[in-house]
Amino acid sequence: MKKILVACIVVLTLGLGEGYTQADRVLDMQKMAQAMQDMQSGLFYNNLDILKDGARDLKKAIINIGSTSHESNSTDVYETWLNNNTAMTKRIQRSISTTTDVIVERFANGDPTQALQEYSKITRECMKCHISLRKW
Ligand code: HEC
Repeated sequence: MKKILVACIVVLTLGLGEGYTQADRVLDMQKMAQAMQDMQSGLFYNNLDILKDGARDLKKAIINIGSTSHESNSTDVYETWLNNNTAMTKRIQRSISTTTDVIVERFANGDPTQALQEYSKITRECMKCHISLRKW
């Protein structure tokens, strides 16, 4: 059992050796875009399961995003300024995560209008970051 645990930790450490790369981030963004599409399909098709699947994927990916390890170690003034925006990133992450729960809850309770409103709130949060930080 101990050996398995050690092996797992070694694999994990090796995997994380590079830290969070730009490729990782692009992949997470694409997962979130897909998750948003799934959630929208859930609303259109009136299908709670599809909505829930999208919500799960979105919540899983949103916790990863942020500066890449390379950016975090940068001495460039502009990049440093962007990295200091982690407070904004954290706020957006929290907001998207809780709003996602609210969408599922509202929809499950038979209130698609409210669910849709919450959905557009998430779109705004995505774009808030893209408009101000996407020059990363
Ligand atoms: C905290 C900032 C931030 C938030 C929040 C954010 N993004 Fe992004 N997004 C970025 C950055 C930065 C890039 C550029 C990726 C790169 O090149 O490293 C990007 C790129 C993308 C791309 C293009 C990926 C590609 O293939 O080039 C998609 C799609 C995307 N985001 C979707 C989303 C969606 C959907 C959300 C909300 C659920 C979201 N993003 C929220 C910062 C953010």
